[in-house]
Amino acid sequence: MKKRYLLSPGPTPVPEAALLTMAYPMIHHRTPQFSAIFAEAKEDLKYLFQTKNDVLILSSSGTGAMESAVTNLFSPGDHALVVNGGKFGERWGKLCEAYGLKTTWLNVEWGKAVKPKDIEDALNKDKDIKGVFIQGNESSTTVSHPVKEIAEIVKKRDNTLFVVDGITAIGVYDMPMDKWGIDVLITGSQKALMLPPGLAFISLNDKAWKFTETAKLPRFYFDLKKERKNLKDNTTAYTPAASLIIGLKEVLKMMKAEGLPNIFKKNERMARATRKAMTSLGLKLLAPDAPAECATGVFTPEGVDGGKLLKSLRDDFGVTLAGGQDHLKGKILRIAHMGYIDTFDIITAVASIEMGLKKFGHKMEIGKGVAAAQEILLEGY
Ligand SMILES: Cc1ncc(COP(=O)(O)O)c(C=O)c1O
Repeated sequence: MKKRYLLSPGPTPVPEAALLTMAYPMIHHRTPQFSAIFAEAKEDLKYLFQTKNDVLILSSSGTGAMESAVTNLFSPGDHALVVNGGKFGERWGKLCEAYGLKTTWLNVEWGKAVKPKDIEDALNKDKDIKGVFIQGNESSTTVSHPVKEIAEIVKKRDNTLFVVDGITAIGVYDMPMDKWGIDVLITGSQKALMLPPGLAFISLNDKAWKFTETAKLPRFYFDLKKERKNLKDNTTAYTPAASLIIGLKEVLKMMKAEGLPNIFKKNERMARATRKAMTSLGLKLLAPDAPAECATGVFTPEGVDGGKLLKSLRDDFGVTLAGGQDHLKGKILRIAHMGYIDTFDIITAVASIEMGLKKFGHKMEIGKGVAAAQEILLEGY
């Protein structure tokens, strides 16, 4: 019998309290019982997003909310600026192009963050850009983009929306939607929200809702105006992923009890401990200059096949991490530290990497990474 540990940047582990509530017998979604649960979750989502705006609940993975942002806010031929610094930036670009937006790709080297000045220059070059699309954390490269600074630039332009994929940022670090002036903010259930995959969330401010009045792209399932109308009645337009919404109420209650500032502090500490552990082992970080706090990317050392190491960690040791995509496939490990992941999960991840590297013949001092992580993690107690 193997004990399993999940430290991938989504899905993340689900707390026992949420698992238990989701295991109760099914209830109907058009009932006062379900509406009461929905009403509580809807209010607590505003706390999570740090907004006064409605946060809509969609039954889809995060990409569904990304698609809804494009189809509900824009028209064919509208100009879009996409920050492409990894797989999820690329997804924004592909989505915009799929719907006929004239898309400018601002390509950023993988492992680096975009420079706000480059956004400003691109907006000055093309005054018709109606949407700037970015990730808070580009989880494929474990980079954090400077969302706050870019929001400052975009908010000066009445005809441009700032659309942020916060799928691995919301609940990870402080990203106050209203205070920073983010126009559209998105997340998904299987990351810092500690739920199984299947729910996506999107919030629009007044400026963004105005865009929905003129947007001409076709939409049906992801019709945000229709969802907003239903939200007022504590329901959704179509059958929602009801079990997940029941779990959502539970995890939001847990997050509120902990308090966002404490969650952010813990995540920062776990991220710093993970980075220090990896560099103490002599490994190179993927994003040393702008590291995200959702996950840490690290290059596997020369002579060790990252793909084989990852597989052995999962199948022999029982520790699931993530690898790299495209040209980083087989070359990196990604260790998540968000959601229901805590001190001793990080210790487990670091210890397993040390043991895995040793098993694959890498010359190193075992225990050095764990000790470095422990020093930092202890700050929390
Ligand atoms: C930053 C980011 N954006 C978008 C997505 C896509 O979300 P989903 O797989 O839920 O559609 C992910 C998922 O890993 C992500 O990490």
